[in-house]
Amino acid sequence: MRIIIVGAAGKAGQAVHQLMRERGHDIVTVGRTSGDVRCDISDEAQLARMWQQVGQVDAVVSAAGEVTYAPIGELSAADFDTSWKQKALAQINLVRTGLDHVPPRGSFTLISGIPSRDPVISGVAAATVNGAIESFVRAAAIEIAPRRINAVSPSVFTESLDDFGDYFPGFAPVDVADVARGFQKAVEGAATGEVIALP
Ligand SMILES: NC(=O)c1ccc[n+]([C@@H]2O[C@H](COP(=O)([O-])OP(=O)(O)OC[C@H]3O[C@@H](n4cnc5c(N)ncnc54)[C@H](OP(=O)(O)O)[C@@H]3O)[C@@H](O)[C@H]2O)c1
Repeated sequence: MRIIIVGAAGKAGQAVHQLMRERGHDIVTVGRTSGDVRCDISDEAQLARMWQQVGQVDAVVSAAGEVTYAPIGELSAADFDTSWKQKALAQINLVRTGLDHVPPRGSFTLISGIPSRDPVISGVAAATVNGAIESFVRAAAIEIAPRRINAVSPSVFTESLDDFGDYFPGFAPVDVADVARGFQKAVEGAATGEVIALP
């Protein structure tokens, strides 16, 4: 399959890229500062240019996004706005603008995260935008069939425990290699409208 991976240079993205390469897929990597194609997917003009460059793909994978972690009393409207635009709306626009570039039976796989189903202190913005991504996936699935769409929703990565571990006390972390297998299941399998919770 020809697969575009947005965020391929990130912690999760590198693992997804490695597994998809090992599976023999033809990969196009995308990021703001590295990759075969440079694109900020939160910018619609850049997205349009990206699709012109990339053309047709069998699968669109996103392992991108940024959200703000802070106590609710310290989160500003700007923090919510940035989290929404950088994580949820950017991935939603990736799908919206990519529909004509993915054939029937092709797929989209987005990334959300555990706070939407298992809230943590300082994770209210993350919970909000991850929930939006998951609702989008469930709703979009019924409209874009036979193209498929799913979200991978991981716990904190083992590889990110130094940065985020304190926000997830008692949570089982997930290795990025297992996150990559979640993406493999979504891309190579038959599911649609699903949120693949990991672990
Ligand atoms: N880390 C965790 O424990 C964890 C757990 C659950 C869910 N998640 C979610 O998983 C995703 C990836 O996390 P990560 O830790 O792998 O992040 P990361 O290491 O910071 O990697 C993110 C990647 O996405 C790219 N990117 C970010 N915003 C972009 C944009 N607007 N357009 C294009 N590329 C963009 C970045 O590259 P450039 O900067 O070059 O663009 C980078 O390659 C995030 O959505 C995060 O919320 C993370």
